[in-house]
Amino acid sequence: MAQEDVFKKLVAHCKEYGYVFPSSEIYDGLAAVYDYGQYGVELKNNIKRYWWDSMVLLHENVVGLDSAIFMHPTIWKASGHVDAFNDPLIDNKDSKKRYRADVLIEDHIAKYEEKIEKEVAKARKRFGEKFDEALFRQTNPQVQVHRQKKEELTARMAKALNDNDLAELRQIIVDNKIVCPISGTCNWTEVRQFNLMFSTEIGSTADGASKIYLRPETAQGIFVNFLNVQKTGRMKIPFGIAQIGKAFRNEIVARQFIFRMREFEQMEMQFFVRPGTELEWFKKWKETRMSWHQTLGFGAENYRFHDHEKLAHYANAATDIEFRFPFGFKEVEGIHSRTDFDLKRHQEFSGKKIQYFDPELNESYTPYVIETSIGVDRMFLQVVAAAYTEEEIEKEDGSKDLRVVLKLPAALAPIKLAVMPLVKKDGLPEKAEEIMQALRLDFRCQYDEKDSIGKRYRRQDAIGTPFCITVDHQTLEDNAVTIRYRDTMQQERVAIDQLPDILRKKTDMRELLKQIKL
Ligand code: GAP
Repeated sequence: MAQEDVFKKLVAHCKEYGYVFPSSEIYDGLAAVYDYGQYGVELKNNIKRYWWDSMVLLHENVVGLDSAIFMHPTIWKASGHVDAFNDPLIDNKDSKKRYRADVLIEDHIAKYEEKIEKEVAKARKRFGEKFDEALFRQTNPQVQVHRQKKEELTARMAKALNDNDLAELRQIIVDNKIVCPISGTCNWTEVRQFNLMFSTEIGSTADGASKIYLRPETAQGIFVNFLNVQKTGRMKIPFGIAQIGKAFRNEIVARQFIFRMREFEQMEMQFFVRPGTELEWFKKWKETRMSWHQTLGFGAENYRFHDHEKLAHYANAATDIEFRFPFGFKEVEGIHSRTDFDLKRHQEFSGKKIQYFDPELNESYTPYVIETSIGVDRMFLQVVAAAYTEEEIEKEDGSKDLRVVLKLPAALAPIKLAVMPLVKKDGLPEKAEEIMQALRLDFRCQYDEKDSIGKRYRRQDAIGTPFCITVDHQTLEDNAVTIRYRDTMQQERVAIDQLPDILRKKTDMRELLKQIKL
C-alpha cells in the first residue's frame, strides 16, 4: 500500500478509536488544531511520563519546572523571536493559497530523494540477491544526477535563507518550475516574512493594556528562571531544568495532521554546563536522547541524526533526531548547543546579572546550554505511526480477514488490559468485575462484555490494549483465566492471583527506563 494511503488510514483510525479529533469539529474544525480523545489523552500522558521520568528520575541533576505561558513581552525581544521568528510566505495568485516558500522548495527536493529510492527499488528487483545497494547508490549515473540536483538545490535554498534573500527564494521556485499543487500554475506573489507568534493583550483594553505573546517555545521560561532554580535548589553546574508545556505558533502550512500544529506541547530540557565543555555534553545528550527513542522498540533503522551544517548564529552544534514517518524521515526532536546566547541576552535586556559562581574554579561565568527539545504531539504521531499495523489473518473457517492492531509498547498503551466474561450470565460478569476491582488501582482496565469474543479482541487490538483476560465457566472452578497477547494472539491459561505479577512485568514503565543508555 502507498505510504500516503497508510497515513490517511492512520488519521481515520485515530478519529474512529477516540485518539485524536479535529478541534471544534461540529463547527467544521479549526485548521491545525486538534483535541485528544479518551485514549489519546492516556497515550499522551504516558509519553509525557516516559520523558519526564527519564529526565528527573534518571538524572539527579535534572529538576523540573512549570512556568507560565504568558511572559513579559521583552523576553521575546531578548530571545530574538520578535525580530526573527519568521517564515517566508508566498501566495499563488490563481488558487489564492498561501505557502511557506522554503517548504515548497523542500518538497521539490524530496522528489529527487524519491526518484533515487525508485531507481534503487527497480535495480533491487532486477538484480535480486546479487544486488550491491551501496555500490549502486555510488555509481549509478541516474542516481548521481538526482543526487547532484538535490544537493545543488539544498545549498541554494540554505544560502537564500541564511542571507534572508527573499527575492532569491522566489527565483528558486520559478527556476525549478515549482507549481501550486491546487492551481497547477507558477503564478506566484513576492516572498515576504511572516512572524509566527500569536499576540494578545493583557490588562484592561480601555487604557494601559499591553501586547503580550503566547509563548512559541517553553525554553525561555527555563532561561528566565535559571537563577531561581539554581539558588533555591542549590544546584551545581552541570545541571538541567526540564519542562513540559503548551506552545503556540501561527504556522502558515498546516498539514500532516498533528505533525505541524498551531497549538502544541513541547518537552524541553536546558542543561547548563561550564563553558568549553559544551560539545562533550552535546555528544552525550545526543546519545542519551537517541537511546530514549530506540528503547521503545520501533527499530533502530527508523531513526537517524540530521546534523545541521548551517548553524543559527547562537549555536555551535545542532542536530535533529528524525523518524521515518509514512511521509518520509522528518524531525521529531532538536538537540542544540546554544552557547551562552540566551542567558546573556536576558542579562542584557533585564539589566540583572545572570551568572553562576563555580566554587571549583573560584570564578563566575555565564553557563553554556545544551537544549533537548521534542514535541509531545509529534512524538505521539511517531508512536501511533510506528504502532499501526494491518495484518492478514486466517479465520477459523479458513477465510482471510484483515486485523488492524496498534502495537503500542505496553508501558505506553492507554488501556493495559480488557477483562471479558465469555457470556453475560452464569456469574461470569460478577467474576470479571471482581478481577477488575482487584486490578484497577494498578492497571488501567476496561470491562467489555458486548459482542462475540472475536469482535471484542479486534476492538481491543484497534485500541492497542496489550492483554485481554477472558473469564469462562472453568474460571469459577479453578480461579484461572485465559490471557491473550495482542501482538502474537497467543493465549495462555493463568491463575488469577498471578495476574498482577505478569502484568506488572510487562507494563511497567521502569522496565523501559532501565534500558535507556545514560
Ligand atoms: N526551543 C527550541 C525549539 O522550540 P524547534 O525546533 O522550533 O525548537 C522543537 O521545536 C520541537 O518542537 C520540534 O522538534 C517538534 O517536535 C516540535 N514542534 C515545533 N513546531 C511544532 C508544531 N508547529 N507542531 C508540532 N510540533 C512542533
